[in-house]
Amino acid sequence: MASILDRFKEGSTEEKVVDTSKKVKVGIIGTGWIAEAHVANYLRCPDVEIVAAADLIPGKAEKFCKDNGIEGARCYPDHKSMLDAEELDAVSVCTYNRTHAECTIYALEKGVNVLLEKPMCVTLEEAVEICKAEKKSGKILSIGFQPRFDENMKMVKKIVESGELGDVYYIQTGGGRRRGIPTPYGTSFIEDKTAGIGALADIGCYSLDMVLNAVGYPKPLTVSGYTSAFFGKDPVTFPGHPEYADLFSVDDFAAAFVRLEGGIILDFRISWAMNLDTPGDTIILGTKAGLRIPSTECWNGSIGGPLKIYRTIAGSDVETIVPERDNHEDNFYNKIRLFIDAVKEGGSAPVPSSQIIYNQAIIDGISRSAKCGREVTVEIPEI
Ligand SMILES: NC(=O)c1ccc[n+]([C@@H]2O[C@H](COP(=O)([O-])OP(=O)(O)OC[C@H]3O[C@@H](n4cnc5c(N)ncnc54)[C@H](O)[C@@H]3O)[C@@H](O)[C@H]2O)c1
Repeated sequence: MASILDRFKEGSTEEKVVDTSKKVKVGIIGTGWIAEAHVANYLRCPDVEIVAAADLIPGKAEKFCKDNGIEGARCYPDHKSMLDAEELDAVSVCTYNRTHAECTIYALEKGVNVLLEKPMCVTLEEAVEICKAEKKSGKILSIGFQPRFDENMKMVKKIVESGELGDVYYIQTGGGRRRGIPTPYGTSFIEDKTAGIGALADIGCYSLDMVLNAVGYPKPLTVSGYTSAFFGKDPVTFPGHPEYADLFSVDDFAAAFVRLEGGIILDFRISWAMNLDTPGDTIILGTKAGLRIPSTECWNGSIGGPLKIYRTIAGSDVETIVPERDNHEDNFYNKIRLFIDAVKEGGSAPVPSSQIIYNQAIIDGISRSAKCGREVTVEIPEI
């Protein structure tokens, strides 16, 4: 797990010259694991000043600030007290999933721009409330999908948009791990009261974003979903911490069959734990060609190997390999930098909620369908 975060630390791309005459005042809500990557990359922005941090656990924000070179930041016991006391331009919401919505909505209501970690939230209902608060505030809300800034991921979208595949009609996506339930710093990913959803939202949201973004984020119409938790509920899965099995109250595997507007079928599976190395590559089938994207354990950085395009030319089956580009170290920096640029320039959000609400709607549909044991319709109210 540590290697995933290491990939966000330093990048190689030359940083563009920025106007430092006015500093963007940033606050960090939730000073856990991912907040470190936010701070490390804000510190690379000479026009940003991290002035405040908040965490529910007494002393955690203070220790975090000291350990991460932002000793000058004022610390608060929760998001509300920080937002009430400070004049902030922007916040990073780095809390566990269950408090994403309340922190984001409160910040937007205070007129503060928000960079919200993925997944957007837990339920579709929360996502709708977040979008309403964003609309009312007129502020920037960007969702933390750093793979959007990866050159290989961008290539997937470019290939689809080029028309090379023809009309896309079927997508299979997913990925995940044989064993990899995330408990690096405790149980916030595996308890319903903090995470709300397991593998389905944690890493499932990335694979959904990769393909939905490539095909222009069509609206989901119906979902037939399945979730299970055979490994999370087994004490053997947590050597040294058998008690985690009792606390485990989310999914560790999910699968779904989703119908999207425009006639595209999305076949999805994701795993934190299973008796297999991979649940398969991502494939995008079109009427002229097919695209294979090799699987990864977690789509939060880049793709798992070179892209391959399959087509038939003059009666012969031909395969084209698209060389891989290695720039994923800069993805997290770009997520932060482009958010700050949008805050300063008043542009549109780098990863807009108008797209990610569909991602959340699918996750919500899978959870609902898994609970009731049949296909469900996705209805998204007007924002
Ligand atoms: N983009 C990525 O690559 C990436 C990687 C890891 C995690 N994440 C996401 O980041 C989020 C946080 O993950 P993490 O691993 O840092 O979790 P974590 O449990 O280590 O930290 C979350 C912190 O938020 C605090 N918190 C919760 N509600 C709060 C509130 N209302 N006010 C102030 N503090 C509050 C908790 O006390 C906790 O310390 C999750 O949603 C996760 O999905 C993203």
